[in-house]
Amino acid sequence: MNNTPSLSSPLPPGANIGILGGGQLGRMLALAAARLGFKSHVYSDESESCAFYVANERTRANYGDERALERFARACDVVTFEFENVPDATAHFLAEHVAVAPNARSLAIAQDRFLEKSFIAELGIATAGFRHVENEVEASEAFRALGGPAVLKTQRFGYDGKGQQLVKTAQEAVSAFSALKRVPCILERFVDFAFEASVVAARGRDGSFAAYDPPKNEHENHILRRSTVPSPLAPDKIAEATAIAKRIAEKLDYIGVLGVELFVGRDGALIVNEIAPRVHNSGHWTIEACVTSQFEQHIRAVVGWPLGNAARHSDAVMENIIGEEAHRWPGLAKQPAGLHLYGKRDARPGRKMGHITRLSPLSK
Ligand SMILES: Nc1ncnc2c1ncn2[C@@H]1O[C@H](COP(=O)(O)OP(=O)(O)O)[C@@H](O)[C@H]1O
Ligand SMILES: [Mg+2]
Repeated sequence: MNNTPSLSSPLPPGANIGILGGGQLGRMLALAAARLGFKSHVYSDESESCAFYVANERTRANYGDERALERFARACDVVTFEFENVPDATAHFLAEHVAVAPNARSLAIAQDRFLEKSFIAELGIATAGFRHVENEVEASEAFRALGGPAVLKTQRFGYDGKGQQLVKTAQEAVSAFSALKRVPCILERFVDFAFEASVVAARGRDGSFAAYDPPKNEHENHILRRSTVPSPLAPDKIAEATAIAKRIAEKLDYIGVLGVELFVGRDGALIVNEIAPRVHNSGHWTIEACVTSQFEQHIRAVVGWPLGNAARHSDAVMENIIGEEAHRWPGLAKQPAGLHLYGKRDARPGRKMGHITRLSPLSK
């Protein structure tokens, strides 16, 4: 282990929080940081980064630019991420200069679907059956070994369903591997789930843990459409799901908010799909429906403050505003709901442009 800086005491208001990644998650983290009196410095490799508009400082540079990273590290008291595809080498490099949370190992595991599924399975937590695939022969063998419909996914850099394909025969697995440009992949057994859910939870620097009520998540075209709390999960399943997230967070020595995506089987069994080492889209409703939002919670964790109250005081439905739907803002603005628009210029198809959260009185 090298001598990585860590925080010896909680950071006071006024401290500088570095955020790697410039999307809406970074934007909402910067807003939450500001509410607690912190300053934010967003680092992104894209000039059109919607988090830039709400940050105190911004750096536009590549994630491999060591001079820019060093300057960024010097300007920040702690650094975090809003984006899991930041190279883990970037996190390791930054960690030589400044406290980084969550740690680079969590990032490295979560950004590689094979490492991620292997890590989860080794903890004795259920996942879909999976195999590593590096060539056509392995694609065909993996399909036969898993036996049945499967999903071929690129090992790295997938998001919103990009880089994955459903396959129903060994031959389709081979063609899909070619279609995904022969990059390393995993083949995963298709899970015939009843619904999807997620645990958004936080672990503090003192090892404390707080989880939000797990929402039910509905996807359209592989993009999250809607998260609803309460979900149909029974109380014992909520406890089980929360315990899974806690175990994962502890084993990663995780600091900050993480998302654990779950498939809920028709028999009620919980299967972990993936881990997001960051605040999660399925936790956006916490802004309106909880005392402490996931964004504030993440900031609290990384600066060494006590975790806030994750209890939910209302039922909530969060819907993403995707692509051209953003043009409907005049109608959305009339609704008695929490409207969030991310300030992105181009309403490209499939792009997350905002979200809206509708509350109703607490039912359970
Ligand atoms: N093994 C699987 N069985 C059934 N559906 C799946 C499987 N893997 C992924 N999906 C569907 O595709 C969505 C996106 O896949 P996911 O692995 O979460 O990748 P991403 O990184 O794009 O979010 C999931 O939320 C789920 O709806
Ligand atoms: Mg996912």
